[in-house]
Amino acid sequence: MKRKMVIANRKMHGNIPDNKAFLEGLLDEVAELPDADYVVCMPHPYHFQVQAILTGTRISWGGQTMSRFEFGAHTGSTSPLMLLEFGCKYVIIGHSERRLSGYESDEASGQRFEEAIKVGLIPIFCMGETLKEFEAGMTVDVVIRQLNAVINRVGKEGLAKGIIAYEPVWAIGTGKAATPEHAQCILSFLRGHIELIDEALAKNITILYGGSVNAKNAQKLFSMPDIDGGLIGGASLNTQEFIAICKAANDAS
Ligand code: PGA
Repeated sequence: MKRKMVIANRKMHGNIPDNKAFLEGLLDEVAELPDADYVVCMPHPYHFQVQAILTGTRISWGGQTMSRFEFGAHTGSTSPLMLLEFGCKYVIIGHSERRLSGYESDEASGQRFEEAIKVGLIPIFCMGETLKEFEAGMTVDVVIRQLNAVINRVGKEGLAKGIIAYEPVWAIGTGKAATPEHAQCILSFLRGHIELIDEALAKNITILYGGSVNAKNAQKLFSMPDIDGGLIGGASLNTQEFIAICKAANDAS
């Protein structure tokens, strides 16, 4: 059985005292949860604080996006090298909140994925359909188009250096998670698509589900054979709820 992974996407939430309470509370609890892996993606200004608290522990951290460029005149952007300097191991790429606000096209997500692996960051590549696309029966067309934008750019060797997260847009922040059966069906489809390119990669690649995962539905979602863990937004803002999700991952590993 593959180790499950739980990633907190804290989005644009938090402040210095709140982050400290969250990270220290989490550290205390995951000491008792050795069978899964835990990652926190905090807003970029707090990486200095995250690095100070988490260095040398078993919780990793990552950026919520990054520039496609290593340095230069890109006002307001964060370079992949800066994420590395603050100890980030991961970076979220292609989150729907960035795609839908116009910051990330398929092509730009592919470019970011390529830049991330070039400097040694592990991309957490997000994909998923909007409600309109879901209702039009286009889910698989959308996720394959988004995934292929990465595969076409970095090949199977590049894809192997990342993690994938299926996050239907209609489930993000709505309290309406995909059913475990729906999530399993899409993740198994994605794995099948990758299997056509490389069987071992399909087996080994970590594929997460994200979208309204909470303490109540985590256990059932993580019991699905193709779901390797979760990308957690809203529920990561409540430390106890997030810890309950980490426990569900630990128990399912
Ligand atoms: P949610 O967000 O858990 O609040 O639905 C998930 C995400 O956006 O990654």
